[in-house]
Amino acid sequence: MQQERGQWQSTAGFILAAAGSAIGLGNIWRFPYVAGTNGGAAFVFIYLVCVALICLPYLFCELSIGRRTGRNPVGAMLALKGKSPWSLVGGLGVLTGVCILSYYGVIAGWAFGYIFKSFVAPAMSLGDFSANALVAVPLFALFLLFTVLVVARGVEKGIEKSARILMPMLLVLMLLLIVRGLTLPGAMKGVEFLVKPDFSVVTPATVLAALGQAFFSLSLGMGAMITYGSYLPKSANLPTSGVWVALFDTGIALLAGFMIFPALFALGGNPSSGPPLIFEVLPRVFEQMPMGAVVAAVFFILLSIAALTSTVSLLEVPVSYVVDEKRWSRKKSVWVIGGAAFALGLPAALEPSTPALQSMSFLGATGFLSVMDLIWGNISLGVGAMLLCIFTGWVWGFRNAGAELQQGGTMSDGMVKVWGLFIRFICPIFIFLVLLSLFPFGARFLASLGIG
Ligand code: TRP
Repeated sequence: MQQERGQWQSTAGFILAAAGSAIGLGNIWRFPYVAGTNGGAAFVFIYLVCVALICLPYLFCELSIGRRTGRNPVGAMLALKGKSPWSLVGGLGVLTGVCILSYYGVIAGWAFGYIFKSFVAPAMSLGDFSANALVAVPLFALFLLFTVLVVARGVEKGIEKSARILMPMLLVLMLLLIVRGLTLPGAMKGVEFLVKPDFSVVTPATVLAALGQAFFSLSLGMGAMITYGSYLPKSANLPTSGVWVALFDTGIALLAGFMIFPALFALGGNPSSGPPLIFEVLPRVFEQMPMGAVVAAVFFILLSIAALTSTVSLLEVPVSYVVDEKRWSRKKSVWVIGGAAFALGLPAALEPSTPALQSMSFLGATGFLSVMDLIWGNISLGVGAMLLCIFTGWVWGFRNAGAELQQGGTMSDGMVKVWGLFIRFICPIFIFLVLLSLFPFGARFLASLGIG
C-alpha cells in the first residue's frame, strides 16, 4: 500500500499541480461570465477580498489536515478523530469528487470538441453542437479517458509531470491571446470594464456570489487540497505554498478577464451574456479577427488544458480514498471510478438532446447539469467547507492545525492566533451565509435582514 501512495518531487511540483487543480473551467468559463453579469471591476475587487480573507485561511486548514495525516479525506478524519461522524464529512468530499467530475467532464468535452469545431462548423451554435449525442458522448468519454490515463500514472509521473508541462503551456497560450485582444482598436473599453469599479451595482448578493465562485475556483470544500497536501513532505512550507496556489489561480482568472473582455468590447459582444459567453459570444468575436479559426482553436486548446488538470484532481480524491482505505491498486481504482463518473455524467451529456432532462429543476436550477452543479458544486462544497472549518477550529483544534502550518515554515504564534479567529468564526459564518442564500427560504430570510 505504501508504494501506491506518492509524494511530490518538489514543492514547486506541488504548487503547479495544486494550481492546475484550481485553474480550470471555473477561471476561464465561469469567472468571466459571473464577473460580466455582476458589473465587472466591482465584482473583481470583492472577489479578491474573498480570496484573501476567507478562502486562503480555509485553504490552510485543508492543507494542514492533509499533510498531518498523509491520507485521503476519509482516512484523514479517521486518523485525527477515530471512528466518528466526522469521517462522513470526508466521505461527502469523496462522493462530491465523483459527482463534480461527472458533469464537469461533459463541459470539458465540449471545450475539447470546439478546438476542431472552429475549423469544421464555425457557425454551429452550442445548442446544436451539444444536442448531437453522437458527438457529445464520445467527447465526454474521451476527456474522462485522458483524465484516467494521467491519474493512472500516479502522483509524480502522472499528476505532477503533466502539470509541469501543461501549466506553462496554458500561460503562454493565454498571453498570446491577451496580446491579440489588446491590440484590437477599442480594446481599452474592455480593460476599463475590469479595472474601473462601479460600486453602486454591488449588493450583498454580489458578495455571496463572489465567495461561492472563489471557493469553487480554488478547488475548496471537498478535500482536494487535503489529498494534494497529503503528498507533501514535512519540510514543505504550507502557508507560502498555499499563498502561491491562490496567487496563481487568481492571476489566471484575472488574465482570463483580460483575454476575453478587450476582444469582446472591441468587437461589440455583450459582457453580461451569462454561461454562453465563451461558447457562443466569443467564437463570434474570434470570427471577425484575421485567422479567427486559429485564434479560436488556441483558445479552446488552452481551455481543455485548464480543464484537464482540474478533472485530474477531481478523480484523484476518490482514487486516493480507495487506494488508502480499500487497498485497491491505482490502476483498478482509476478505471472503476472513471467508469462510474461516465455513467453518472451520461444524463448531463444527453441533456441537450433530451427534453425531459432539460425540464428537471430543483431550487431554481433548471436542467440536469445545472441541478448537479447546484447540489455538488455549490451546496455540497459549502457544507463540506463549513464542517471542515468547524472541525479544524473547534474539534481537532486550531492550535494543533497551527502547529502543522508552522512545521517547515516560519508562521509566528501570533499569526496562528489570528488564523484561529478566522477559522473558528469568520470563515464558517460567511460560508454559512453563502449556503443560506442558495435556498429560497434562506434567501428570503437574508433579504428580510437586508443581506442578499
Ligand atoms: N477549481 C476548478 C475550476 O476552477 C474545478 C475543481 C477541480 C474543483 N477540483 C475541484 C472545484 C475540487 C471544487 C472542488 O474549474
